[in-house]
Amino acid sequence: MAVERIIDSTLHDDDLDEKRIEVTLRPKKFDEYVGQERLKNNLKLAIEAAKKRGEPVDHVLLYGPPGLGKTTMASVIANEMGTNIRVTSGPAIERAGDLASILTNLSDGDILFIDEIHRLGRVVEEVLYSAMEDCKLDIMIGKGPAARSVRLDLPRFTVIGATTRTGVLSAPLRDRFGHIHRLEFYQTAEIAKIIERAAKILGSQIDSQAAEMLSTRSRLTPRVANRLLKRVRDYADVNGDGIIDASTAQAALRLLEIDDLGLDAGDRNLIVNIIDNYGNNPVGLNTIAALTGDEATTIEDFYEPYLLQIGFIERTPRGRRVTQKAFKHVGKEHSGDNSQPKLI
Ligand SMILES: Nc1ncnc2c1ncn2[C@@H]1O[C@H](COP(=O)(O)OP(=O)(O)OP(=O)(O)O)[C@@H](O)[C@H]1O
Ligand SMILES: [Mg+2]
Repeated sequence: MAVERIIDSTLHDDDLDEKRIEVTLRPKKFDEYVGQERLKNNLKLAIEAAKKRGEPVDHVLLYGPPGLGKTTMASVIANEMGTNIRVTSGPAIERAGDLASILTNLSDGDILFIDEIHRLGRVVEEVLYSAMEDCKLDIMIGKGPAARSVRLDLPRFTVIGATTRTGVLSAPLRDRFGHIHRLEFYQTAEIAKIIERAAKILGSQIDSQAAEMLSTRSRLTPRVANRLLKRVRDYADVNGDGIIDASTAQAALRLLEIDDLGLDAGDRNLIVNIIDNYGNNPVGLNTIAALTGDEATTIEDFYEPYLLQIGFIERTPRGRRVTQKAFKHVGKEHSGDNSQPKLI
């Protein structure tokens, strides 16, 4: 993505300040982690049972759109279990040897968090299978005819895998997880709570009206909520007395070009582009990517989940289709006819 989007739910790596704030705002225990009740209840039970037996929790796979709290939940699990967490990611484990050295350095009961687990290579994945299943590490020693396979005992550990997609995870890997949970978009009231909690930690004053306004524009995503809060707080500090009320929030959001549904210029551009070229006919992902100049995966991971959630786009067997609701939002006329694809 060429332009950094304020409502982008991914973590902006180059924004150090953002990272620091992400760390301080990150809930540490279940009772600070707002929402996702079903997930929390399941995990609480699993943790309690594991503690009683004096064993690690079964492996956990968390999936869902970016910024909904997968990484946060992994560290909450570690805190609740009272264990260490070792953080790595699919693309960082390039060779089987990399994984072997991570695994042999774990202590009993540790948690190994693997972000973007769908990006693990095939060979690495295979080493992970037996490690996850029976805490054994199969490695080859030597080369050529003298090579032999050795089986090492590993400490008992828990893998927590996170991915934005489960579709691309191999079935054998998926099967190794005892707990598979999808993180859902949050309710607006939950987002408002997250905003109020974050404001308190950051030492800024926000009234409930402003918190509510921000909560409806945060794409039902905690990371976006925290980021919006930070931007609005900047605005209040510069243009007012630092107190965030409805009118400062409104003015700041207008400046950021974020509309009342939390869509920014990029989202609206995507919708208008599809409408102008294809009307309300279904259109393939790659075509959409070509229209907007984004990568297909960017469309799929970042734009689409929220647009689907609010019913602006629907999936059909022949591609994505813009709905009447979205036509209305961008001020376009819906023909009501979806039979004739317009060619470009
Ligand atoms: N349930 C929650 N309650 C309060 N704050 C939350 C919650 N979930 C997430 N957050 C906040 O949102 C930020 C983003 O969450 P997190 O990094 O866990 O998302 P993620 O799902 O791992 O995203 P990605 O897929 O991009 O890795 C966290 O730093 C935290 O401050
Ligand atoms: Mg994460």
